[in-house]
Amino acid sequence: MAPLCLWRWRRPLCAGLLLLSLLLGCLLLLAADVRKQWPAAGSFHPLLWGQLPARAHLGARQGLDFTLLLTEAGPRCARGQVLLILVTSAAGNAEARRAIRRTWAAQEGRPAHPWQAVFLVGQAAEAAVAWAVQREQQEFGDVLVGSYQDTYRNLTLKVMHGLKWACEQCRPRYILKTDDDCFVNTDRLPAFLAELNTVSTGLYVGSLFSREKRRVIREPSSKWYVSRQDYRPDEYPPYASGIGYVLSLDAAEKILEVAQRVRPIPVEDAYVGILAEAAGVRARASARFTKHNVGWRVCNYRYLMVIHQLRPREQEAARRSMLQARGASAVRAASRPPAPGCRR
Ligand SMILES: *[C@@H]1O[C@H](CO)[C@@H](O)[C@H](O)[C@H]1NC(C)=O
Repeated sequence: MAPLCLWRWRRPLCAGLLLLSLLLGCLLLLAADVRKQWPAAGSFHPLLWGQLPARAHLGARQGLDFTLLLTEAGPRCARGQVLLILVTSAAGNAEARRAIRRTWAAQEGRPAHPWQAVFLVGQAAEAAVAWAVQREQQEFGDVLVGSYQDTYRNLTLKVMHGLKWACEQCRPRYILKTDDDCFVNTDRLPAFLAELNTVSTGLYVGSLFSREKRRVIREPSSKWYVSRQDYRPDEYPPYASGIGYVLSLDAAEKILEVAQRVRPIPVEDAYVGILAEAAGVRARASARFTKHNVGWRVCNYRYLMVIHQLRPREQEAARRSMLQARGASAVRAASRPPAPGCRR
């Protein structure tokens, strides 16, 4: 009576199979949903999600390939200085570089806390400009020329190249990344870092953007446009403005390590913030980095470390204020915020 027996089992078997396929379908849908909601999580915390997301579904989300950025001879730097200042500069901005060399990057004698400034420049589209940049490096030895095209949308490559070079060749205790339209208080910053700063590891500090200003710009015509493909979330994590931020060497190394797994976006400072968050390095806010050049008085130069928005010809006046601010208690004064009467 075998056929009869099978017949008897057919209905429960069918029902069971149906149930099982329903369950499987649900599971698949759920998995797809999780990926949709947490797309970036895979790239931020690869360990959290195991091996799977890293290559498989992130396919296109590859990090930086540093081998493409390296160049032949760069500037020379002494190892283990207190501070290395990386100044992003467009190839054509020779005037800004000249002004900086004559003002805040000029060193008198041997500083008590060794530091050095280096310009980061890419490949100029015009041969004459590229040639002039090479000449500058030969003459002053302070230009790190990268192999990437020198465009605004390539600023991220510029900064990553600079950080990589700094960590491999110079190994300073701290790195300041800044722009060629900024003034850096080189009379105080190296001493401040060496003597007063208490956060010597995991340091990432600068002028942080408010939450509203951290919204990702999706307008394709904007110079800060970032597609959803390149970065999915609508808001960046806390990050310091590219006008100037200080990284301790270990923080820079962690950031570079993570950069190999996180797809770069053209907004350099936001990318560093994304990497820092993924590396577990907290962004710290400091009023010593100011985005605005609002006629700061001499006394402000005891406190401020980076000022943004200077035209080349304004660098000289800023340097005079910096030197006038030198006082008997120079270093101690730098630890206190400016007095109320010394706002601007
Ligand atoms: C950045 O530089 C690379 C390498 O030179 C180049 O292929 C690319 O077109 C540049 N990207 C932009 C947006 O300028």
